[in-house]
Amino acid sequence: MRLSIKNLIKDKPIGSEVEINGWLKSQRKNKNFSFIILNDGSTQDDVQVIADSTLGNYEDFSKIGTGGSLGIKGKVVESQGKQDFEIQATEVIVYGDVSENYPLQKKGTSMEFLREVAHFRPRTNTFGAVFRIRHALAQATHRFFDEKGYFYINTPIISAMDAEGAGELFRVSTLDAANPPMENGKVDFSKDYFGKETFLCVTGQLEAEAFACGMGGVYTFGPTFRSENSNTPRHLAEFWMIEPEVAFADLDDVASLGAEYIQYMIKYAMEKCPKELEFLNKFIDKGLLEKLNSVKDTPFKKITYTEAVDILQKSGQKFEYKVEWGADLQTEHERFLTDKHFNGPVIVTDYPKEIKAFYMKQNPDGKTVRAMDILVPGVGEIIGGSQREENYDKLVARMEELDLELDLYRWFLDLRLNGTVPHSGFGLGFERAVMYITGMSNIRDVIPFHRTPGHVEF
Ligand code: 4AD
Ligand code: MG
Repeated sequence: MRLSIKNLIKDKPIGSEVEINGWLKSQRKNKNFSFIILNDGSTQDDVQVIADSTLGNYEDFSKIGTGGSLGIKGKVVESQGKQDFEIQATEVIVYGDVSENYPLQKKGTSMEFLREVAHFRPRTNTFGAVFRIRHALAQATHRFFDEKGYFYINTPIISAMDAEGAGELFRVSTLDAANPPMENGKVDFSKDYFGKETFLCVTGQLEAEAFACGMGGVYTFGPTFRSENSNTPRHLAEFWMIEPEVAFADLDDVASLGAEYIQYMIKYAMEKCPKELEFLNKFIDKGLLEKLNSVKDTPFKKITYTEAVDILQKSGQKFEYKVEWGADLQTEHERFLTDKHFNGPVIVTDYPKEIKAFYMKQNPDGKTVRAMDILVPGVGEIIGGSQREENYDKLVARMEELDLELDLYRWFLDLRLNGTVPHSGFGLGFERAVMYITGMSNIRDVIPFHRTPGHVEF
């Protein structure tokens, strides 16, 4: 079993024989020996190896280029260099050289270029850092909710409902697209696999509500699909969402939960991935550590949508989209609030009902709903949530207004007729959180292989 470079650096077993493996970062040779810098992806740090020219296969390994894969057996010895130890090789195993076209030979390859060779991104310092942090944030998520006594549930990926009512659905069908069965000029989906129209889920919330209204507190963590045609640095067609749902909780409860969860993730990443954050702070976002340090314990600001509109209108700022009560906040508006006005995360509550989903609890004013978005600098909306309408008649009235097919939601409505309780929840876009905590500016660079309009490589 390989010894990871991470463990080697942790233990620094000076004097002992070890075996490590990895990919060549660089190799410099002179008459007497070759200087090998190796990284295996387990940590941000590389290891320095000295391989003497007396080794039998010196001719073979000393010509391996950056990106080639090697195994090293050798002795850990003190070093004068910037690391306090190095490995004096007794054997160098060549697993594979690189071809002439290996794209990571050159220094300074752009993010755009790296997206075209996404299968090699895990070998770079930047993506190693991002994906070790992504891993830590996933672990932090399960720990956070587990410590709170919430249960992890897995909701269906194939769904018959447009649960957000936004029409951004990917169809799931086994019908012959070139020759589907027709009935009165329309495709007859009763002949499809499930006997009705089905789609990839846009959320697991409605199913999570059923579990919260029986188990108290639950959360999902799964893939989510939206066919919105948004070619922006913060939209994916396939992304991961964490959705806690809590019975006997109101909007303020889950707004606090959301802020606490974000702060927990930041602290966890700072504890588990200090080298990665230092690296990103140096090469990707110079203000990253300062930002994380200040956000991790500062209470989030909280304002209503109406107050936000007021701030924006009085800002004297020129926006491309006009700020009007009733219109959705655009990215430029969100960014003004977080980056300029509050200079930190802000929770915006009580949006107009017309721009939010049908299931949100209606306020007595008849105009707004108990919604909340958490916005953060640099990214914008990272969490969207609400208190849910638990009153059967009000919910049905709103669904009828919006022309929703009540039959599809029968079980969801049933929850309101049988032991209904106030309950609330939210969804955190996992990639948006990874962007925020790594300082990466494009969502395509925080998911292993991205799906966006027109793009499904790899
Ligand atoms: O605000 P959204 O649409 O809320 C829901 O889906 C609710 N059902 C959540 C709930 O209350 N349980 O999405 C939640 C979050 C957004 O705040 C954003 O971070 C992320 O999901 N998100 C996306 N991330 C990447 N690409 C997209 N196309 C996204 N759409 C939403
Ligand atoms: Mg939203």
